Amino acid sequence: MARMSVKNTPIDAPYRRAERKNRRGSGKLPVVLLYGIDPSWTPEEQQEVIRQSRRLGFAMRRRGHSVRFLPVSHPNLRSVLAAYEPHRVVIFNWCEELPGRRRSEHKVAETLESLRFIYTGSPPQVIRLSYDKGRVKRILEAHGVPTPRWKLFRSPEEEGWDCYPAIVKLAREHCSIGVDSGAVVFTPAQLRQRVEYVINTYRQPALVEDFIDGPEYHVPLLGNDPIEMLPPVERDFSALEDPAKHICSYKAKFVPDSEEYQKITSYVPARLSAEQMAQLEEICKKAYRAVGCRDYGRIDVRMRDGQFYVLDVNPNADISHDASLAVAAEKAGYCYGELGSRLVALAAQRHPALQSVLKRPPEAPAPEGLAGLPEANASLGHPLTPSEVIP
Ligand SMILES: Nc1ncnc2c1ncn2[C@@H]1O[C@H](COP(=O)(O)OP(=O)(O)O)[C@@H](O)[C@H]1O
Ligand SMILES: [Mg+2]
Repeated sequence: MARMSVKNTPIDAPYRRAERKNRRGSGKLPVVLLYGIDPSWTPEEQQEVIRQSRRLGFAMRRRGHSVRFLPVSHPNLRSVLAAYEPHRVVIFNWCEELPGRRRSEHKVAETLESLRFIYTGSPPQVIRLSYDKGRVKRILEAHGVPTPRWKLFRSPEEEGWDCYPAIVKLAREHCSIGVDSGAVVFTPAQLRQRVEYVINTYRQPALVEDFIDGPEYHVPLLGNDPIEMLPPVERDFSALEDPAKHICSYKAKFVPDSEEYQKITSYVPARLSAEQMAQLEEICKKAYRAVGCRDYGRIDVRMRDGQFYVLDVNPNADISHDASLAVAAEKAGYCYGELGSRLVALAAQRHPALQSVLKRPPEAPAPEGLAGLPEANASLGHPLTPSEVIP
């Protein structure tokens, strides 16, 4: 199985030696890169995920981290993690779902938490919250974050919507599932039909929103306190004639030979004035904090008539090398390995062993297995100080 072939691959051997050396105190924090491989995927899909995780893992190794690859190919995450001790490692959580368990993204973080592992990214409750678009919108509104006008439809018969064009989305989904050009509606009859389609096909309420026809900004954020905005990525839809195609649909994101994929142009950084950029930064940081994102995230925003609207908050944003977050990081001067390294450094600040390292007088030795922590962070240009450690 793919899991075994990855774990036992000979390329790991030199790094096991390096890891042993690191534990003796010369290197950096041992990282376990956790990623999902669902046996029901096609061999090509599995290979692609293996390629992606190797790309990140190797990039981090080049930054001096000791990285072990840990594929998850069945839903029993506890048994997968059994060989690792929480106080010796930091988990790089790139496991988006437990194999065979739909919408189990939060379960991964939940299990890591219950086993007391320190891991990169948001806690389970935040990941779960992000799947409930209605709740997220209520939170954003309560915090004064501008977001498109909206209404939740539990039945196609519901009344009370008069704003067109509108977009009909699934109330509990991600990855543009159910978002195609048919989701943009221009009349009450189309709205009713699409709401009916969403409810009957996906067995969940439909979220109807004011369709903001304008450029879209994918705004990656890093850190906790402080939070850093990376250069926003702009998506320009103007080459597509049909306004209903002015969306980051499933096709636009994942089907390279589609018109949408080919005609949407990206600009990094976004073509915004310094004043607009500052406004975008303020809105996105507010949204990030309001939802409770940790370590990293991506806020999707649109602009119409000079006004920004937050569409979506992604605490578990895609960190593939070609996704907005990594592309923006590169623009900001962080190579891929450095981005991974920064995420590990952020997670490491929550590590109890690191906190004792920081509290100890400088001459005392660091605990076995975590000896490299402060060094690892210093090499990123972000030396850890006790004041940076979350209490
Ligand atoms: N109110 C809206 N106005 C214009 N486009 C929208 C709106 N809501 C969603 N979209 C388009 O649909 C895409 C997917 O919607 P989003 O809310 O981000 O859902 P998902 O969680 O599936 O990514 C967005 O990236 C955007 O292109
Ligand atoms: Mg989105």
